Amino acid sequence: MIQIQTERIPRIIAMTNQVGGSGKSTSAVNVGAQLAAFGLRTLIVDADDQADASVALGYMFPDQLEGQKTIYHCLTEKGTKLDEAIVPALAGPLGAEGTKVIENLFLVLGSGEMENAEQHLTSAMNREMWLKKLLDPIKGEYDVILIDCPGSLGLVVIGALVASNEVVACIKPGFKELRGLTRIEQKIELVREEFPGADAKLVGVLLVDVPTHRSAGAVWDDGKKMAEESYGDLCLPPVRRSPRIPESYAHQKALLYFDRAGEATEDYLKVVKALGFQRQK
Ligand SMILES: Nc1ncnc2c1ncn2[C@@H]1O[C@H](COP(=O)(O)OP(=O)(O)OP(=O)(O)O)[C@@H](O)[C@H]1O
Ligand SMILES: [Mg+2]
Repeated sequence: MIQIQTERIPRIIAMTNQVGGSGKSTSAVNVGAQLAAFGLRTLIVDADDQADASVALGYMFPDQLEGQKTIYHCLTEKGTKLDEAIVPALAGPLGAEGTKVIENLFLVLGSGEMENAEQHLTSAMNREMWLKKLLDPIKGEYDVILIDCPGSLGLVVIGALVASNEVVACIKPGFKELRGLTRIEQKIELVREEFPGADAKLVGVLLVDVPTHRSAGAVWDDGKKMAEESYGDLCLPPVRRSPRIPESYAHQKALLYFDRAGEATEDYLKVVKALGFQRQK
């Protein structure tokens, strides 16, 4: 029997927060790995010049791969298509013994050169549409697209918000971080108003690196409470603090492939379910 491959309509989710080090890359990688294990064809777009998502998915030096395009080429070279920068996600370092391809999980390779992206975009036509234009031709091949944003609210992130239909704000539960959420909400609002067809909405506030031990002090407890009071149902199940997270990054493996039954792995599974995803039959 001939099977006809139908176009998929993906959920496109931007993982954002202008505050650096708030768990965006960790969450993109580990939510992505859980989705892929659910049987959903998932693409992670590494839009940050630190390229942490690429490192975590096996690619330590994405700019040094012979003949391989990255997101920066797609942004700056006319005619370079996003699928030229897409590689399979790996559990382990590229080329190392035992490293496996993660089924259903794909990565738009990041690049250190993205540090020049803002400068490039400043003078570009339709600059806020840059990522939407790149994603439109290929998005029908995926069930979910996760965008790992840099820690800013510049043009790269505006482009990610224009391209997505959902936003998850990742934060560590402190007062400074929670205050920053208001700015993200304003940007989302602005994008919806300014760009026809842009429909991104905040669908989740994800507290990460949440200490479970009392000695962590009242700031975290209060921060957690404040998030729950302000964002109610938008608060996703929190991800507990775990030494396995930095360790898994150092080993270039998503948690599912590093600490399958660990607390943080369990937490990310709950996050994925709370976002409404289901294991495919
Ligand atoms: N649940 C957790 N437990 C322990 N450490 C964590 C947890 N979540 C994140 N971290 C650590 O916090 C740091 C920042 O996380 P991450 O790189 O995901 O943030 P980011 O928002 O992507 O940062 P940037 O803005 O620099 O891109 C990392 O060192 C990561 O290992
Ligand atoms: Mg990051």
